[in-house]
Amino acid sequence: MSLNERWKTTLEALQAQNRYRSIWTSRGIDFTSNDYLGYGHGRLPLAVDASDLPVTGMGSRLLRGHHPIWEEVEAALAAWHGAEAVLMMTSGFVANEGLLTTVIEPGDWVAADEYCHASIYEALRVCRPRKFIYRHNDLNHLEEGLKKESATRSPQREMFIVTESMFSMDGDLAPLCQIVELAERYGAYVIVDEAHSTGCYGPNGSGLVDAGQLRSRVLATVHTGGKALGLCGAYICCSSLLRDYLVNRCRHLIFTTALPPLLGVYWRAGIQRVMQDDAGRELLFENARKFRTALYGSAWDVRGDAYIVPIVVGEDQRAVRLAAHLQQKGWDVRAIRPPSVPEYTARLRISLHAHHSPQCLEALAYELRVSARIFH
Ligand SMILES: Cc1ncc(COP(=O)(O)O)c(C=O)c1O
Repeated sequence: MSLNERWKTTLEALQAQNRYRSIWTSRGIDFTSNDYLGYGHGRLPLAVDASDLPVTGMGSRLLRGHHPIWEEVEAALAAWHGAEAVLMMTSGFVANEGLLTTVIEPGDWVAADEYCHASIYEALRVCRPRKFIYRHNDLNHLEEGLKKESATRSPQREMFIVTESMFSMDGDLAPLCQIVELAERYGAYVIVDEAHSTGCYGPNGSGLVDAGQLRSRVLATVHTGGKALGLCGAYICCSSLLRDYLVNRCRHLIFTTALPPLLGVYWRAGIQRVMQDDAGRELLFENARKFRTALYGSAWDVRGDAYIVPIVVGEDQRAVRLAAHLQQKGWDVRAIRPPSVPEYTARLRISLHAHHSPQCLEALAYELRVSARIFH
């Protein structure tokens, strides 16, 4: 079989399974993006003067790619989170992969929630630790693994727990406090991906680890700019020693072009914007309450805790048809299918934003209730 034939066979199989993906320009009212606070839609625009800064990163941060603006941004982020140190990375995917593959060594033991993001699983594939995938948010299952591992563990081998704080496809929160307590009991280190909570939860929006006052009890947190912050890029919060170690050992930092200084000016202003935007956070949570109330009692299996609202419909084809129906009516709502979610749990992932009006939320909820009669 030629290479082209191999690709065609795979793509045809995906089509037959309703799992073929394509890229297209978004239409309709946005209930898909992760722009939770509405910054990407022009809510609270940033006024920045960055005219004389380059659009290119110039090279690796360790070479000509460093610019003093990033020292300022990292200091502002560290102060926001009350973290000892911060290291900018080019994206959340790269930050997760870079952090995990640098810190975890072959032979170490890692417990990860089964619903962790693909970037976390990609990292675990690369650094080849002994893996324990625990059932989603199941503390008993996690403890079972910790107990077994700690009983036979050799002192040179470290134990880690990796979780998201708010799960991207399920919209529910990890029991962070209990996870940290378990970690402390069994001598494991905790790493938390805060991609979907940064900007929205906690004091001045700094996330769920800070909301639970767990900063000093976790090894590191990962945050992305491309979601609620309305920016681009990502960062890791950690100790100064770990930052130093990453600067010296993390291939995803050393061997890539730095973020451009022009973007740093947007980060500097963006941190101030999000810290002061309690009004946006209130609107967002109010919208989540309204929308969930409007769906209450519908035939749909509505999951999650807040502004990410998964509606689990089961079969891939049903999710695709339901999404297409809503898209035709003017809503940009997408079907999420395996492998992004487990088999037979295809769903709509409805992402609520601070700028959605009450009328707009009510109208989508109405459409979903009506569709339940057709698609259920
Ligand atoms: C939980 C989680 N972590 C990490 C990432 C990657 O972040 P980025 O988009 O900045 O690469 C995502 C993005 O979808 C995510 O959902």
